[in-house]
Amino acid sequence: MKLLITGASGLLGINLAMEAMRKHEVVGVDRGKLQSAPFQVFSVDLPNQTVLDSILDSTSPDWLVNCAALANLEECEANPERAKMINVDVPAELAKACAERGIRFVHISTDAVFDGEKKDPYVEGDIPNPLGVYSQTKLAGEHATFSENPESIVARVNFFGWSLTNKRSLGEFFVNNLSEGKKVNGFTDVIFCPLLVNVTARLLLEMLKKNLSGLYHVVGRQAMSKYQFGMEVARTFGLSENLICPKSVLMSELTVKRSHNLWLSTHKLSTGLGREIPSFSTGVIEFYTQFQQGYPQKIRGYQHSDAF
Ligand SMILES: NC(=O)c1ccc[n+]([C@@H]2O[C@H](COP(=O)([O-])OP(=O)(O)OC[C@H]3O[C@@H](n4cnc5c(N)ncnc54)[C@H](OP(=O)(O)O)[C@@H]3O)[C@@H](O)[C@H]2O)c1
Repeated sequence: MKLLITGASGLLGINLAMEAMRKHEVVGVDRGKLQSAPFQVFSVDLPNQTVLDSILDSTSPDWLVNCAALANLEECEANPERAKMINVDVPAELAKACAERGIRFVHISTDAVFDGEKKDPYVEGDIPNPLGVYSQTKLAGEHATFSENPESIVARVNFFGWSLTNKRSLGEFFVNNLSEGKKVNGFTDVIFCPLLVNVTARLLLEMLKKNLSGLYHVVGRQAMSKYQFGMEVARTFGLSENLICPKSVLMSELTVKRSHNLWLSTHKLSTGLGREIPSFSTGVIEFYTQFQQGYPQKIRGYQHSDAF
């Protein structure tokens, strides 16, 4: 398969590219951060349909996976028009361009489309109720994708892992601060289903191989609080658990409203793939193994030297 990945410099994009490269041809689209990545990269500030069309025509990928997004909640609240442009208009244009060319399209969405009020795990058929600009635009991006290209895959995700900036994921937050002996808060009342981003990437690749289409929850199969997550990371890395203070998110300084319970069912995904979703503990052990083997430095080395 040949994959075109937009948002190739992001946390998911770079790790998806690294996983996909093992067996497939990869072409990335970024905004100029990647310099010496081990795959071909085009720099485009999206939306730029003319350039994107010519990239699609010259590379003829089998799949386009859209990992580009404005994923910072505070930035989305401050600039709703930009959030709409990147999280709604871009996927709509990409979905349309793919439909016109017979290229299969995958759009990445978020677990945060739900308000967190449900007591049981959310299934794909549950009605979303996004709480802020980020999640509202992500939900609108899902709708725009399916309306332009009904055969698309839309994957609602939540992941942690190593990023180009070394500060994009919650896993990096705990490792970086605890390694420096700094105290951090761990929210006990925010529930999510984290998956190592490389596992997310492998699951996405399996979905492509199986030719799935439709809406899927591509998250971990275990729900936990952010505090529990931090404690697991600390234990695995041999860092001090005592530095993590259990705290309620209500006592935090976060201003943008966030859902407290993002427990999503992965039943549809495991049925579609015909196998269980890997456990959280295998992911966190791999996160540590990557650290020991210098994977974070390796991927950071792919960016422009003036970005360090
Ligand atoms: N991280 C999570 O746990 C999580 C949870 C739920 C959903 N998601 C979803 O997963 C997807 C990937 O998230 P991520 O964490 O990998 O995000 P990220 O690290 O912020 O990466 C976003 C990517 O989009 C690119 N981008 C932004 N604006 C662009 C533009 N105008 N033109 C071209 N590229 C642009 C960024 O380029 P630059 O590097 O140049 O900025 C970057 O490559 C997103 O759809 C996000 O909503 C993530």
